[in-house]
Amino acid sequence: MPLTQTREIAPAQRLENVRYAIRDLAVLADEVTRQGHKVLPLNVGDPLNFDFETPAHLIEAVYKAMRDGKNGYAPSPGIKEALDAIRREAGRKGISSVRDAFVTSGVSETVDICLTALLNPGEDLLTPSPDYPLYSAVLAKLGISLNTYYLNEEDGWQPDLDDIRRKITPRTRGIVLINPNNPTGSVCSRQMLGQIAELARRHNLVIFADEIYDKLIIDDDPHVSIAAVAPDVPVVTFGGMSKNYLAPGWRIGWGIVSGEAASVQPYIEGIHRLLRSRLCANHPEQYAIKAALEGPQGHLVEVRRKLRSRRDLTVQWCNATPRVSCVSPRGAFYAYPSLDIPEGDDVFVKELLMQKHVLVVHGSGFGQKPGTKHFRIVFLPDEEMLAKAYVAVAEFMRERYS
Ligand SMILES: Cc1ncc(COP(=O)(O)O)c(C=O)c1O
Repeated sequence: MPLTQTREIAPAQRLENVRYAIRDLAVLADEVTRQGHKVLPLNVGDPLNFDFETPAHLIEAVYKAMRDGKNGYAPSPGIKEALDAIRREAGRKGISSVRDAFVTSGVSETVDICLTALLNPGEDLLTPSPDYPLYSAVLAKLGISLNTYYLNEEDGWQPDLDDIRRKITPRTRGIVLINPNNPTGSVCSRQMLGQIAELARRHNLVIFADEIYDKLIIDDDPHVSIAAVAPDVPVVTFGGMSKNYLAPGWRIGWGIVSGEAASVQPYIEGIHRLLRSRLCANHPEQYAIKAALEGPQGHLVEVRRKLRSRRDLTVQWCNATPRVSCVSPRGAFYAYPSLDIPEGDDVFVKELLMQKHVLVVHGSGFGQKPGTKHFRIVFLPDEEMLAKAYVAVAEFMRERYS
């Protein structure tokens, strides 16, 4: 008689806190599509879903690498040509105290490795609220409880310094700063960066500076790296190919460690243990890194022009729509309007999807101040698709709330 396995295999309990609202909603969207409706997707930050293309010279660089036989494993930290280019890019960003650079499978893996290499059970890391949910997902996986600081909507979504001060404890090892920000589209002022660096200095914190959108500043103001403002403070600056270089499917990201050499060295060794244990990042795609950082940048002019026009359309719609208000985004391709409605923003988002087939993500999926309600718009679609979506959202709100 064959033995039958009847007991359920329970997943680890720590996974209960692993959520990724952006992709979780896709299940419901698939259902709406199966019912024969066309969903207007304002939910996922993938430019390649819309009228953006990976620059041809980058595709050529990867193709050439494959043809040249660069199809085996790469060195664990990344290929030399890419690492040298990343260090020079750090120099152009004004980061003078670079101690290490390494290539990963997207910034997602940089985050996973850098947080895992730093945090012990019982310690914590300050993460923003609202937050890009990758950070809380990795912390949940590590069994680290959340310690969030607010971004202040009244101050253009700048970090709330008083809240950061209140939340730092003897167990706090670092702080995450997403600049330009997902989901709010805010960009940190130099003064704010200086103040956060000062707190990090005083409390011995590592700063994780997620700058994956640093070339997508919509207006003409400069992007300032916190590692450039504070060369003495331990900072890991994250960058990658997914957004600035329109190649998210290649899964290429990197980390740049800066700060006082003696203080960051043991941490760098920890990072490299983890880099070795996962062998390497995608190999042929690494040959596009130098081509991206040092080749023609013409696509960025066109990308920023489109983002400016689509941001303006989005903000105009928010200002003209009752119950919606929005801080104008200055970087990346997200807007995070607040909602004045009598029900939860998760209900708003689900009903909007089912009734009008417009897909956005609820603010509660990113974290927000109690009592406030928001939704995140990805304004990558062209003006025609955005206008269609906004007409549908306004109609939905009129029918449901007036
Ligand atoms: C702030 C932020 N960090 C990291 C990532 C992940 O980037 P990657 O595609 O390089 O893993 C994203 C993706 O949307 C993001 O918005």
